[in-house]
Amino acid sequence: MEGFKIPGGSVEIWEDPTEISRRAAEMFVGIAREAIAERGRFSVALAGGSTPRLTYELLASEEYVPRVEWDKVHFFWSDERCVPPGDDQSNYLMAAEAMLNHLPLEERQIHRMRGEDEPADAAASYQKELLEYFAGEEPRFDLIMLGMGDDGHTASLFPGSVVEGDREHLVAAPFVTKFDTHRLTLTLFTLNLAGQVMVLAAGAGKASALKQVLHDNRDRADELPARLVRPVNGERLWLVDEAAASELG
Ligand code: 6PG
Repeated sequence: MEGFKIPGGSVEIWEDPTEISRRAAEMFVGIAREAIAERGRFSVALAGGSTPRLTYELLASEEYVPRVEWDKVHFFWSDERCVPPGDDQSNYLMAAEAMLNHLPLEERQIHRMRGEDEPADAAASYQKELLEYFAGEEPRFDLIMLGMGDDGHTASLFPGSVVEGDREHLVAAPFVTKFDTHRLTLTLFTLNLAGQVMVLAAGAGKASALKQVLHDNRDRADELPARLVRPVNGERLWLVDEAAASELG
């Protein structure tokens, strides 16, 4: 594995998506164990899309299940599509099928974004749920998992849609013109409150965006939302494969 430091974190270049997934699973276990030891519970916001699926499957495998006190884990989402939970586009459904349905969890540990509701209402109710979970403290997830699109979006923060200075909203329901639909997403403010952000990016399709995102010049910043993810009191870790890193030079 090659790696290098970036402001506020590091980039690790692994051979392929399988290696990224194994590293992500190991990081998940390590951060979970530390959070549970220190605070008695672990809060994680799961990434959507397809890249994290193998990580979730690993975490639900016989190799990993014994390594985490699952009854102390609370699952949230970084973003969700505005669809019902049974829709094959649902980020909840992907995580449930790959992992949650195979873990010894209670309903109270799964904090689903309600994609089936009116978007603004769903965002408001999720914000309320976050404030209740964090019980008036700063909503600081122990771990936020993210992916990155070919256009540099992350979660459902798409180019041109990020309100950088918004410190009031923890959750937003932006209209995404690219898909002609609303999405639900944690805001940049919430992402940057995290203790640890882990971004998984694999495949040659991500190479151009990754190069621009990691070259930390501030111009076009909001056009590449993934570049804005940098926890204020936390770390960011990019787990990328050689194909996605092919333009890093
Ligand atoms: C979503 C995701 C999104 C995703 C990227 C990468 O709801 O689609 O949250 O931000 O992480 O688009 O998606 P892939 O992992 O499928 O490349």
